[in-house]
Amino acid sequence: MGYQVKEVASKPYDGQKPGTSGLRKRVKVFQQENYTENFIQAIFDSIKADGATLVIGGDGRYFSPETVQTILRIGSANGVKKFIVGKDAILSTPAASNVIRKYKADGGILLTASHNPGGPNNDFGIKYNVSNGGPAPENVTNRIYEVTKTIQKYKVIEADPVDLSKIGETTYGPSQVQIIDSVQDYVELLEEIFDFPLIKDFLNNNAQSFRVLFDGLHGVTGPYARAILIGKLGLPDAAVQNCIPLPDFGGGHPDPNLTYAHSLVEVVEKNNIQFGAASDGDGDRNMIYGKGAFVTPSDSVAIIADSADVIPYFKKGGVKGLARSMPTSKAIDLVAKKKGLEYFEVPTGWKFFGNLMDAGRLSICGEESFGTGSDHIREKDGLWAVVAWLNILAAANKESPNKLIGIRELLQRHYSIYGRSFFSRYDYEEVSSEGANKLVALLNDAIKTSSLANAIHHSKSTGQDYRISSVTSFSYKDPIDGSVSSNQGQIVLFDDGSRVVFRLSGTGSAGATVRMYVERYVGPDAGPEELSRDTAEGLKGLIEVALEITKLKEFLERDEPTVIT
Ligand code: G6P
Ligand code: ZN
Repeated sequence: MGYQVKEVASKPYDGQKPGTSGLRKRVKVFQQENYTENFIQAIFDSIKADGATLVIGGDGRYFSPETVQTILRIGSANGVKKFIVGKDAILSTPAASNVIRKYKADGGILLTASHNPGGPNNDFGIKYNVSNGGPAPENVTNRIYEVTKTIQKYKVIEADPVDLSKIGETTYGPSQVQIIDSVQDYVELLEEIFDFPLIKDFLNNNAQSFRVLFDGLHGVTGPYARAILIGKLGLPDAAVQNCIPLPDFGGGHPDPNLTYAHSLVEVVEKNNIQFGAASDGDGDRNMIYGKGAFVTPSDSVAIIADSADVIPYFKKGGVKGLARSMPTSKAIDLVAKKKGLEYFEVPTGWKFFGNLMDAGRLSICGEESFGTGSDHIREKDGLWAVVAWLNILAAANKESPNKLIGIRELLQRHYSIYGRSFFSRYDYEEVSSEGANKLVALLNDAIKTSSLANAIHHSKSTGQDYRISSVTSFSYKDPIDGSVSSNQGQIVLFDDGSRVVFRLSGTGSAGATVRMYVERYVGPDAGPEELSRDTAEGLKGLIEVALEITKLKEFLERDEPTVIT
């Protein structure tokens, strides 16, 4: 048949345990002899590789093209029937999820470390997704890990590398390799979901008063954003920046938040841009930010849920249910209650939404960590959120032709109906594990002994009093498969409904990262002045009290957080 399967002897490496989002390590770690090969063989040993169809692609970061060739050589030797590969090794995470579903593939291997910096001295990642298009559940990733611990060999076929730049199908050893346009299927998907003609009209009619700027942060979304915003919605070239994907993301940190997406924030402020947005390295996160108006991800998903009926996909299929991760603000719960929809609070991590979606009980969901999405795929989706906002704004302006409704007006309108959940997250990155453990121990002790309950804490700076009503640890029982996830963060709840959540990050790579999530709700009757206050101001007293109760600064030996979002 003109090909030969060869076995190569190897030895196990420690620590090939996939985290929440696959195996993420420094490029140099992946470049060690047989390190990448071992992990890929372990994937094929853990799934039914024989006769399978697999999707391959990623965010285009450094070390991706050579890893695609490695996957082809090993996968083919393990019996994979067909590989569907994004041109030049590129597929955004949402696009890959869509391709897996659309072509009924058995799974996919995504080469990404999401929003982590790329390049020879930064991160690389390999993530396995299953046939519903979502991240592999823990039983699969555990199996992969077990194989890596004892692996002695891997299989390869000897074949010339495939030209990843040529769209079309070729025979590769015993397999077929189809190189597809990375962008086309995804654009078609969004076109089916949203009202493109409505958005296009709105943008066209308000070309001066409503300018748009999308920042790709040199991640994978550039070509997708161009095809949609310029190609389909008719925006000018100036509506996108940093939209050429680069293997090292131009040296930046491709994470769409107020700190790392400063390239967007600066231009929006300087040029008075009404609608700004950014996405991360692999295209699943998003930030919506207009002149003087930052939308917290918690508000973003609540507003999308509230206005879902202007989006054709939901108008047609209905909204089955809503969900958020536990630390995300409760803004979306209020929408669910008002609309009589079922809603869920799940642990941090997109995978928890997938089961609910597959069971037909969840349509729209989001996380405070800049993730927003729906059941159109099984990953969060940055550009989906951006176009959802454009669709909602276009519809709102059609209803109110005499006064332009921008991001700020939409937020105010939402707060005047539902009230506002002031929300902020403090990250203490790379603190000592010992200090972090002390903080966790203090909270666990308070849970066991109720020692903190009913205590009143006074904020000196604002004069507010906060009485603790409970301290609890979050656990979740999946309503579909009954699996239980415990210790998913500690919640300090106050009498007025305010809460402070503490969690250890599951994605950090050095030391421990402590996250403190702060939420305070103000009802609609508080009036426009109170409702439109600066977030930091609205949360000042609560933050002061939270830091005092937990002795956080003492335990973590930090006066200030590393990042505030
Ligand atoms: C990844 C997951 C998200 C999750 C986030 C949490 O980005 O895809 O679903 O919210 O990790 O990260 P953390 O560092 O807080 O554990
Ligand atoms: Zn990402």
